[in-house]
Amino acid sequence: MGAGIALVGSVSALQPVSVCNEQLSSRVDTNDAWIRSRTGIAARRIAGPGETLTSLATAAAQAALEQAGWDAEDLDLILLATSSPDDLFGTAPRVQGAIGARQAAAFDLTAACSGFLFALITAGQYIRGGTVGRALVIGADQLSRWIDWDDRSTCVLFGDGAAAVAVEACEEPRNGLLGFKMHSDGRRADCLSLRQRDDHVPLLEGHSSQKGGFETIHMNGQEVYKFAVREVPAVLQELLNSTGTTAEQLDWLLLHQANQRILDAVADRFAIPHERVLSNLARYGNTSAATIPLMLDEAVRDGRVRPGDLIASSGFGAGLSWGAALLRWGGPGGARAPAAPG
Ligand code: COA
Repeated sequence: MGAGIALVGSVSALQPVSVCNEQLSSRVDTNDAWIRSRTGIAARRIAGPGETLTSLATAAAQAALEQAGWDAEDLDLILLATSSPDDLFGTAPRVQGAIGARQAAAFDLTAACSGFLFALITAGQYIRGGTVGRALVIGADQLSRWIDWDDRSTCVLFGDGAAAVAVEACEEPRNGLLGFKMHSDGRRADCLSLRQRDDHVPLLEGHSSQKGGFETIHMNGQEVYKFAVREVPAVLQELLNSTGTTAEQLDWLLLHQANQRILDAVADRFAIPHERVLSNLARYGNTSAATIPLMLDEAVRDGRVRPGDLIASSGFGAGLSWGAALLRWGGPGGARAPAAPG
């Protein structure tokens, strides 16, 4: 049994329809200059009729398998990080069925915009525990389903997308998950929520039953902003301390893509040059659980992230939840074997 977790492949899937800020401003009272200056977002992908979370996540999962060079039957585990499932009983099994991963257990993990990182860490624990050899970790969200398109303070922020990362057990020199930290604070849950609707149906005389259904996304933008610029540097510092790593040793900062101002503030806090902070917010907005693997995939494809690169990643968002992980990108076929930091 290997002692480490190698990140061997990453692939993304995106809907073809891109909606730019100018187009949104014909629907709601906003404008391109406001959205760009406050968030860095220029456009986002929005799923149309017939496009589902299952189809998006399946496309990413299938492609990640191909990139890793694995058969579907080699998979032991599929974790789908999402807050916008097609089926509240679980969308991951639908993805498992669609790709034919008959040996794999599959379940959803909900931790909003921290979901991908929490799922990657969870898969890592199964692998380290010796019960899983190969896993797919998928981050996928279709928050456009839950947006109030008349609420200009939230509708401009989010987009849809999916991406998957293939991880497998390996010997320590190839280990790609070098450390992690996770936090939650439910006392601040109302800062950013997507709650069950308070709706009832008559059942018996004098008794009614709750009716399923959700409200739209509610957010206190300023509180969420303050939370992010306080907690993300703090958790990254915890991560660096616990792994004996310095900010100068990092090749890349890979943060949840919520707002360019948050990315810049975190980078400045560690004096990390902005060119080492990965960002694709302008094109996709905040795709929730998908942002980190989408960004990773793009940076791997365009050659910025190379096998052996050291990446500090942080996810943060509703819950409230936040976390960080120190990653070493492996790449298909196995990484070169760098020394552990510290
Ligand atoms: N277009 C134009 N004006 C807008 C607007 C939009 N899309 N959204 C809000 N405004 C207006 C407000 O109505 C307000 O107008 P007023 O001064 O006349 O009342 C003004 O802009 C300022 O609003 P405010 O909410 O104070 O803006 P802000 O500077 O805090 O920026 C966010 C708003 C949402 C961009 C910012 O708070 C933020 O990024 N928060 C974090 C959100 C986030 O990342 N969420 C996901 C976390 S996973």
